[in-house]
Amino acid sequence: MTSTYETLRSRLQSAFNALEVGADPALRTSDRSDYQANGVMSLAKRLGRPPREVADAVVQALDVEGLASVEIAGPGFLNLTLETSFLDSRLRALRGDARLGIEMGVERRVVIDYSAPNVAKEMHVGHLRSTVIGDALARMNRFAGHEVIARNHVGDWGTPFGMLIEHLLDLGEDQAVATLSIGDLDGFYKEARVKFEADDAFKGRSRARVVALQSGDPETLRLWHVLVNESIAYFSEVYAKLDVTLTPDDVVGESYYNDLLEGVVHDLDAAGLLVESEGALCVFPPGFQNREGQPLPLIVQKSDDGFGYAASDLAAVRDRVNVLRADEMLYVVGAPQVQHLEMVFAVARLAGWLPERVRCEQVVFGNVLGKDHKMFKSREGQSVKLVTLIDEAIERAYVILDERGTDLDGDAKFHLAEQIARAAIKYADLSTERQHDYVFDLERMIAFEGDTGPYLQYAHARVRSIFRRAGDDTPPDAHFALAEAAERELALGLLALPEAFSASLAALQPHRLCTYLFDLAQRFTSFYDACPVLSSEGALRDERLALCDLTARMLRLGLSVLGIDAPEQM
Ligand code: ARG
Repeated sequence: MTSTYETLRSRLQSAFNALEVGADPALRTSDRSDYQANGVMSLAKRLGRPPREVADAVVQALDVEGLASVEIAGPGFLNLTLETSFLDSRLRALRGDARLGIEMGVERRVVIDYSAPNVAKEMHVGHLRSTVIGDALARMNRFAGHEVIARNHVGDWGTPFGMLIEHLLDLGEDQAVATLSIGDLDGFYKEARVKFEADDAFKGRSRARVVALQSGDPETLRLWHVLVNESIAYFSEVYAKLDVTLTPDDVVGESYYNDLLEGVVHDLDAAGLLVESEGALCVFPPGFQNREGQPLPLIVQKSDDGFGYAASDLAAVRDRVNVLRADEMLYVVGAPQVQHLEMVFAVARLAGWLPERVRCEQVVFGNVLGKDHKMFKSREGQSVKLVTLIDEAIERAYVILDERGTDLDGDAKFHLAEQIARAAIKYADLSTERQHDYVFDLERMIAFEGDTGPYLQYAHARVRSIFRRAGDDTPPDAHFALAEAAERELALGLLALPEAFSASLAALQPHRLCTYLFDLAQRFTSFYDACPVLSSEGALRDERLALCDLTARMLRLGLSVLGIDAPEQM
């Protein structure tokens, strides 16, 4: 079903085209009419004619089926009011549509690189955004009908593994596993680091161990696997707590690309792109300079013969294009790595590994800040573990539920507290325009009022409670007369979901969908304040129940593609 927005927009487009200049109309819902159209002004500019005159011409050319009135306002806005019968047929079609008007796109294969914590290191707030944003984009893409291949590019290779393996041996395997399995990854890492700095013999052993690891010594590889597997098991627990869809099968870490790195160097060399600089093998992609204006190298192989982070990223690009056959590659990676990834993509393009048809983009995000607006740290100045954040949110949700006088207890109460905690954390992250920083303020994030996850969950539960009280299900064939202004506003909000969803996904900006959902919840509140539902009768009651039903379904759908549950009761 073509959305109402798209129907109107394409009619306007045809009317614009009838004037024979390319210009795009834009539409938004408006207080004065149902929709307001924009774009006449730029069209008039191109034509060199007065906006009013052009607006008249557009109206003349417009297919007005389903339109009750078109008014020209101000310097060339068009105020469009739809026939109520048109809205009625739209809403009735929506009720029968499990996808609530969101069409399936042409299937694409989308590889999403997200989360990517490091083995034997804690998952902290720095990984929160990549994990939460990446998972929302994965869910939205899946719902849009695309095939998503998640790639959890964990840091599981490199020189630190020498010291980590030696530390594991010092502790004894059982003790090491015990430490890691309770999630004390940072403790383990730090102890290894302290010994490495202080103890020359340990340092020597660690270096030898790196060599053994790189040359594939079986016992060393076995010990390395212990570290990797314990870490992945721990990450999986965190993902479960956050309700993130990543599984151990999605883990394709840096080490996976080891065997492909020689090929990367060989092919870059064959393409004449490799330059030796201070003993390292580099590519200098045009357009990248340091502060002094010198060309900037992407180091592919270091002077000690080791391959760097860039080499595995280049191998990953090739793997994703050639083996996974990606149509689209998204890298949900923070702002500090913008230059790194831009250079990787530029080199891949130079080498001919990244065809034009593949959309390849870094989904950049800003920092999580503390209330002091500095990088978010614990009181002791440590980076905060992700599990700690979630557990604190769950505790807080418990308190709030008690304050609100919940009648749940036991597992049901815990489950609800978890759902609320996750909603608070995820929504606060997703509803911020991702390039911006945001302040981690649990109190604000978990409040039932304001633009928060729990508020939207509560809005949904409140609608559901109407049906519980009604004691019956939604009437199958309600008609929408939309006599009250608040009903009409709500109806227009309901019809706007497909556009909000696709704009949000196309721009890779989950906050747009959040904004839509928050607006919808507010429209519902105004409606519910103005229009009694259960105490009205006959066709009016049916109509209002049907509006409630659509609202609940949309909130639930919108939250679910963001990775947020919509509990029935709160
Ligand atoms: N493991 C890296 C980190 O913790 C992030 C990896 C991002 N993905 C990539 N393909 N480079 O910073």
